Amino acid sequence: MFKDLEGKVVVVTGASSGLGRAIAKRFGQEKAKVVINYYKNEGKSDELIGEIKEAGGEAVKIQGDVSKEEDVKKIIQFAIDTYGTLDVMVNNAGIQNEVPSEELSLEDWNKVISTNLTGIFVGSREAIAYMLKHDIKGSIINMSSVHQIIPWPHFAHYAASKGGIKMLSETLALEFAPHGIRVNCLAPGAINTPINKEKFSDPAAKKEVLKMIPLNKIGEPEEVAAAAVWLASKEASYVTGTTLYIDGGMTNYPSFQAGKG
Ligand code: NAI
Repeated sequence: MFKDLEGKVVVVTGASSGLGRAIAKRFGQEKAKVVINYYKNEGKSDELIGEIKEAGGEAVKIQGDVSKEEDVKKIIQFAIDTYGTLDVMVNNAGIQNEVPSEELSLEDWNKVISTNLTGIFVGSREAIAYMLKHDIKGSIINMSSVHQIIPWPHFAHYAASKGGIKMLSETLALEFAPHGIRVNCLAPGAINTPINKEKFSDPAAKKEVLKMIPLNKIGEPEEVAAAAVWLASKEASYVTGTTLYIDGGMTNYPSFQAGKG
């Protein structure tokens, strides 16, 4: 438990499923006030609010599409109107789809970039502007991926968005460190969430993924959520401009395992 998170106001985007859901729930367990942004699944958000309240936290929900500037502004304003301030912004929402790059349409490219990268830019900008104005030494946590450094054929738009998140976050960290605002990334590897449902339900595909993970297991959303609360807490007060990889060692060149190479 991170006692200093009690009562803190936390926005989590894309929080009705997967990593966002686990992160929102864990902040709730830390007794934070959580603003759940959902895109499509209102029912799941209601369920989550119930779980957070049961755990001793507070929670409200708001619909919004992070690829739309006015929606991101609306989400942050809703948090401020509801709970009076903003301490932690978790820009989590993201999408991916598989397309060979020579067939990648501009429409697909724009959709992924506007959700994954532009959504995080606007979410970070709006949160930072509020924190600056009110002298809040807040924390911005941006959901990246191992693909911020590992190239991924057929997912060029996704990999480009995650690489962009890394440099955006590092730049913001540098820019706002003098104000005590910390900006960091989380970079999960292969985690058991709906985004991977199809892949992990195929045993052969799952086996192939496991070969890339030195710890030899698929991660659970709670293992990413644990990192998120730590990054937001006082325990991480000297951490900014960094990426925490939660990947079972995937970024550690697993093909060199057992002395190969
Ligand atoms: P997910 O598909 O369960 O979660 C994505 C969430 O974002 C969903 O709740 C969805 O409704 C929401 N969303 C999609 N478009 C949106 C929009 N325009 N506005 C607002 N919300 C929107 O999958 P998961 O795994 O929880 O993904 C969360 C984040 O974690 C993504 O940024 C993803 O790229 C990242 N990630 C996930 C990994 C994994 O193995 N599960 C690995 C690396 C990164």
